[in-house]
Amino acid sequence: MSEPPAPTVPASRGEPHAEASTAALPGPLTPGPAGPLVLGIETSCDETGIAVVRGLDLLADVTASSMDDHARFGGIVPEVASRAHLEAFGPTLEAALERSGVRLEDLDAVAVASGPGLVGSLTVGIAAAKALALALGLGLYGVNHVIGHVAVDALVHGEFPEEFIALVVSGGHSSLLLVRDIATDVVELGQTLDDAAGEAFDKVGRLLGLPYPGGPHVDRLAQRGNAEAIAFPRALSRGKDLARHRYDFSFSGLKTAVARVVEGFEDAGVEVPAADVAASFSEAVADVLVTKTLAACGEHGVTTVVIGGGFSANSRLRELAAERFAAAGVELRLPPIRYCTDNGAMIAALGSAVVSAGATPSELDITIDSGMPLTQILAAS
Ligand code: KG4
Ligand code: ZN
Repeated sequence: MSEPPAPTVPASRGEPHAEASTAALPGPLTPGPAGPLVLGIETSCDETGIAVVRGLDLLADVTASSMDDHARFGGIVPEVASRAHLEAFGPTLEAALERSGVRLEDLDAVAVASGPGLVGSLTVGIAAAKALALALGLGLYGVNHVIGHVAVDALVHGEFPEEFIALVVSGGHSSLLLVRDIATDVVELGQTLDDAAGEAFDKVGRLLGLPYPGGPHVDRLAQRGNAEAIAFPRALSRGKDLARHRYDFSFSGLKTAVARVVEGFEDAGVEVPAADVAASFSEAVADVLVTKTLAACGEHGVTTVVIGGGFSANSRLRELAAERFAAAGVELRLPPIRYCTDNGAMIAALGSAVVSAGATPSELDITIDSGMPLTQILAAS
């Protein structure tokens, strides 16, 4: 019998190979005066967002959404979202490059949302970002999606003050943050213990027979209703609950309270006063969000608040925040709605901040982190 052929690759190839590729990774950047030219990639949920920024200048921001594909299921279907990202990625990247007039080889860095979010969706963005970074010899910056919702405001309203409070409200998050430096130092003061604000609106939308996602429909309905018609609870706002959860939120009990009220009308054979229910519910959510945000400002001696996330489109939150923050002498920075929903600009903005702060890029083998903690701004570097 003849000998089997000798292996063509030495068994020990793993180690020296790994060392060689690590040594070739780009280090921290020293951007020019206009700031780094950063590609931002966002695929954490149902929006494929790709943007290009130079420093705080937004050069292009292109978004493809798969929301219409999910609506008939009454919620986001992760498999459908992942496939949609795969299909939309190439055309979205091309459009962002064309609109910005930037060529791939001009870029300084690639930033990508590496968490939190849906595993399959994030995987598409990260895989693409790694391929681009590797092919172009650029640093890869895996950044926190939720912090991105705050960072995007700098593209609209300019540099952040030394310290500010951020309220991030979306379909997946309701978080109160103390931001000392958007690139390096974020403290999580509180978050929702159950449903996020947008999620509660979507559930109440379903209770009231409105299409998915219910948030904007409940909002529109609420504008015709009486906010004082029904006294809905303000969770974690009094006594021991408040002491233990000063900056946390809870909207699940409120949603149940709405369900009871709706059932009560139905059982009595009375038409549900949907606009009044929506208005009273909206008031309860906005009241708790604004009250806790103002309390955080007072306690930390902060006079600026940034509100981000898709739920910040809510008209009652916008109104109440404007009114009560002005009365308290607190500056409110609220980006236009198109920058509040998921988009590439927020990831490019945070990438730009992180690069400008001289951060070392993430390792090329970073994995997605669907539960990325809010105190972690940049994935393992
Ligand atoms: O940030 P976002 O676009 O997606 C993520 O969850 O990441 O937020 C979408 C959420 C949905 O729950 C949607 O119903 C809610 O924000 N929403 C609203 C309004 N616009 C969007 N909720 C209440 N009032 C609105 N005007
Ligand atoms: Zn988001």
